[in-house]
Amino acid sequence: MTPFEYLRGAEKKRMGELFEFLSFPSVSAKSEHKKDMKACADWLRNHLSSIGFKTRVYPTGGHPVVFAELASDPSAPTVLYYGHYDVQPVEPLELWKSAPFKPQVRGGYIYARGVCDDKGQTFCHIKGLESVIKTGGTLPINVKLLIEGEEEVASENLPAFIKKNRALLKADVAVVSDTTQFGKNLPGVTFGLRGLAFVEVTVTGPNRDLHSGAFGGAVANPVNILAAMIASLHDKNGRVTIPGFYQHVKPISKWEKQQFKKLPFSEAAYKKAVGVPALHGEKGYTTFERVWSRPTCDVNGIKGGYQGEGGKTIIPSSASCKITMRLVPDQDPVDICRKAEKYLLKIAPKSVRVKVTKHGGATAVMVPTDGPWLEAAARAIKKGFGRAPVFMKEGGSIPIVADFKRILGVNTVLIGFGQSDDNVHSPNERLRVIDFERGCKTAATLPAELAKVKI
Ligand code: BES
Ligand code: MN
Ligand code: MN
Repeated sequence: MTPFEYLRGAEKKRMGELFEFLSFPSVSAKSEHKKDMKACADWLRNHLSSIGFKTRVYPTGGHPVVFAELASDPSAPTVLYYGHYDVQPVEPLELWKSAPFKPQVRGGYIYARGVCDDKGQTFCHIKGLESVIKTGGTLPINVKLLIEGEEEVASENLPAFIKKNRALLKADVAVVSDTTQFGKNLPGVTFGLRGLAFVEVTVTGPNRDLHSGAFGGAVANPVNILAAMIASLHDKNGRVTIPGFYQHVKPISKWEKQQFKKLPFSEAAYKKAVGVPALHGEKGYTTFERVWSRPTCDVNGIKGGYQGEGGKTIIPSSASCKITMRLVPDQDPVDICRKAEKYLLKIAPKSVRVKVTKHGGATAVMVPTDGPWLEAAARAIKKGFGRAPVFMKEGGSIPIVADFKRILGVNTVLIGFGQSDDNVHSPNERLRVIDFERGCKTAATLPAELAKVKI
């Protein structure tokens, strides 16, 4: 039996197992799900053990790490597969057509929180590897699987785990499927990810909410002030005004610009897909350049004042917001957080108190755009998807990828199986059944292709 035949024969069983995996509400950001996180990690561990992996769940300062290993030939390449079993919060729940942790297939899609980001994609590799083990009795490469539970909260404890377990994680290359394809029936290989810097701003004014008639005009309104501060984060050309923000940003290379130009793009379709009347962004750049290769600054949420039904005439006592900045190579998240803090404190008027909390984030990465690992991955994609991949980048972040290079000295191959309209981090997250199947097939082919690489 070939691995593809094995996959075909086990289609129903595989979907059932995926559904089990998806049923754990493994929301890393919320402490109420701590037990669910552990249960999900244990389930994963048992599942990997049943396939034949040597497995272990490692506790961390946060949520546990699942590690699995299956050695082959010491002269064969060692491949470190990475994925995450944690998912984003599900709110707003009322917008989901089916419950986020009760997976459902509708219209050719699997719907569930985490099905695309990243349980479903991680599961493709688990099932692909299983198909090789079950049909060949062994693997042609040495496999290490590192599946963490804190990616969606910036992988806070994983760098320390990696530093402590350098020997355990020693590998020739890393493989990550936590991105998207370029489009439907158009797979891609991703050669760059943006980084992230995260700050929270709190503006405090009067010691309690005040009557806006009795006090309005004499006391600064924290919501007004915060809004003005947010407005001064960009200039009229859409550039970020934080001093030094672009200090380490290099111009986009000619090669990169050319790659992006080769990719099909319809502004009308893009606008329609996200439901906006017009696109918006930094002047002088194309949409792909804006989202993949330029740094940005965005408010993710804002709080303050009266939100309830009807009116309430007050000057709120405080206001706050969460700001994230997407970074490009050579921008340091800690440095950018510091620069943002300095600027925000400088533009704050004396009439309020401003506190900035810095959270750091992730470093942007570029991975090699050629070489034998990438070629092996491209061959596997061709076999799994029936089509050679295009070169692309992603605007999102996978914090640990930079650490794989920095701490372990390994490059990462980024091959995504999802689609940009799979609603990751949104209600009704989904993954096409066909992308799941093709992802499994790609993953089933990948070990043999990677085994061809001379190390
Ligand atoms: N899988 C995503 C990264 C991603 C998003 C890749 C979109 C390609 C397209 C990952 O799970 C993610 O959401 N990362 C966070 C990291 C953050 C919490 C530090 C992100 O990018 O916001
Ligand atoms: Mn992810
Ligand atoms: Mn995510």
